[in-house]
Amino acid sequence: MRKITIAIDGLASSGKSTLAKHLAEELQYKYIDSGAFYRAVTVYLNENDIDWNNNTELEKALHKIHIDFDYDLILCKENLLLNGKHIESAIREIHISDLVSYVSAVPEVRKFVVSRLQPYGYEKGIVMDGRDIGTIVFPYAELKIYMTADEKVRTGRRYKEMKQKGVEVSEHQVTDNLSGRDLIDSTRRMSPLKRADDAVVIDNTNMTERKQFKYVLALAQSIITGV
Ligand code: DC
Repeated sequence: MRKITIAIDGLASSGKSTLAKHLAEELQYKYIDSGAFYRAVTVYLNENDIDWNNNTELEKALHKIHIDFDYDLILCKENLLLNGKHIESAIREIHISDLVSYVSAVPEVRKFVVSRLQPYGYEKGIVMDGRDIGTIVFPYAELKIYMTADEKVRTGRRYKEMKQKGVEVSEHQVTDNLSGRDLIDSTRRMSPLKRADDAVVIDNTNMTERKQFKYVLALAQSIITGV
């Protein structure tokens, strides 16, 4: 069966990762969360007190960063490793969410992360979500989706998700974080968040996860089978 590349971009908390994971599971593709790479770099720079505006310091630091995954056989999911250490919970903390848009706007950081992401696409059979996947990372992806939803709905989703994970956060902090990140992510100089010309736009403000999933799965299957 022909394998394709699926690129999913969109605003923060627009449901990209839920959709991407379901598609990957159904099609038996690999799923990669590109935001986790930017978050991992942010954790490293923050923990090691690196000034990311100082190019020499930043370049030295980037050489020391190794990002990888291992598979949790019990939970049946991939875990992110930063220099061999599990950092799944550290990358989701609110202070990292507050810093990550600044770090990911730095051109050297973007070049570093894009060069780590692109090899995952060599063999196709991949679903990747982020902000520049359909425009920069995989411009030749066979299926590109651009997701959006009302800001209130997105804030509510993110707040609920963080609470469920036990993260100490207020609704106000989540609102500020999402609107601040959307602004920085879509106005930065290098590869800002924008819809690829050939992306299918999905506004899921009033759409169930199931309906959205079935719609995108049908798009993917028609490309895979050519009908
Ligand atoms: O998907 P996320 O919210 O975990 O992403 C965290 C940040 O990383 C996001 O605010 C912007 C940045 N990012 C990016 O610039 N490009 C990507 N492909 C993915 C994420």
